This record gives sequence, C-alpha cells and structure tokens, in this order.
Amino acid sequence: MAKILVLYYSRTGNTEKMAKAVVEGAKITGRVDVELSYFVEATDLNQFDAVLVGVPTYHHDMPVDIKMLFEEAAARGISLKGKPGAAFGSYGWSGEAPKLLIEIMKNKFEMKISEPALLVKYTPDQKALEQCKSLGKRIAETLIQQL
Ligand SMILES: Cc1cc2nc3c(=O)[nH]c(=O)nc-3n(C[C@H](O)[C@H](O)[C@H](O)COP(=O)(O)O)c2cc1C
Repeated sequence: MAKILVLYYSRTGNTEKMAKAVVEGAKITGRVDVELSYFVEATDLNQFDAVLVGVPTYHHDMPVDIKMLFEEAAARGISLKGKPGAAFGSYGWSGEAPKLLIEIMKNKFEMKISEPALLVKYTPDQKALEQCKSLGKRIAETLIQQL
C-alpha cells in the first residue's frame, strides 16, 4: 500500500488542525497508509511515496527543524524525485513558510508539487478544514492512480 507522510510543526495548534484534516482527507480513499508525524529522521523520508508538510510562518521564515530536515536529506542524497508533495500552513500576515518550502521541494528535490501552497489565516475554520481534506484526498488519489 502506498504511504503518505503528513509532517508538521505547530506552536499554537493551528497548523496541527490543518495537518489532521489533511490526514482525514487522505484516509477517505481507504487505500493508502497515512502517517501523521511531528518528527522524522531525514533517512526515513524516502520510505514514503508522498510527503505533505505543514509549516506555520514565524518571523517570515519556515520552522528551523523542517529546514534542517530537508538540508540533512539533501546532504545525505535522499531522493524524493518525482514523488507527490505539498506544503500548507497557518499564518498571520505574510505566510512565507509554505512557499519557501515548496521551492526546496521542487527545486532541490524535484518533487511533483501540488501548487499553490495551502495557506490559512490563523485558526482554520470549517471551510479551510475542508480545503485541507481535499488536499489530502487529492494526493492520495494521485498515488492510487500511479499503482
Ligand atoms: C512571534 C511570532 C511571529 C510571527 N511571525 C509571522 C510572520 O512573519 N508572518 C506571518 O504571516 N505570521 C506570523 N506569525 C503568526 C503565526 O504564523 C500564526 O499565529 C499561526 O497561526 C501560527 O500557527 P501554529 O498555531 O501552527 O503555530 C507570527 C506569530 C508569532 C507569535
């Protein structure tokens, strides 16, 4: 069964709510394994068939742990080439983090990125959570089609 990683960072829970909805959406298909995680080792990244990452924006940047993870993965030559990926996250006013991450996923790792990034201002409302679910479902369906 194809495996999806939904990795996220969240300080006040907003991006976490988004991540949980993304997982819910991916699970609707019933045909993929979905792992929700706050932390993974760089060397574990390529065990997944798709990687979705939730990053809130703090100080116009993405969380340092996530940045380090992808830097380490690049340094170790971990290949994610051609794998579906997406970035999402809560923000307050500028929302750079998911866009910065998409650049890395696309340009450094040559992932097949679902664009644009899914940005939600502060706490996701029901409509935003539905958008998160749709993102998860869409990626799961992409994987199922590839089988
Ligand atoms: C110290 C601090 C710095 C922040 N910097 C930014 C920023 O540069 N750009 C932005 O869009 N939002 C910024 N925010 C708002 C957060 O992105 C927003 O509160 C978001 O919902 C946090 O998501 P989380 O609950 O997943 O941690 C900042 C918030 C705090 C507390």
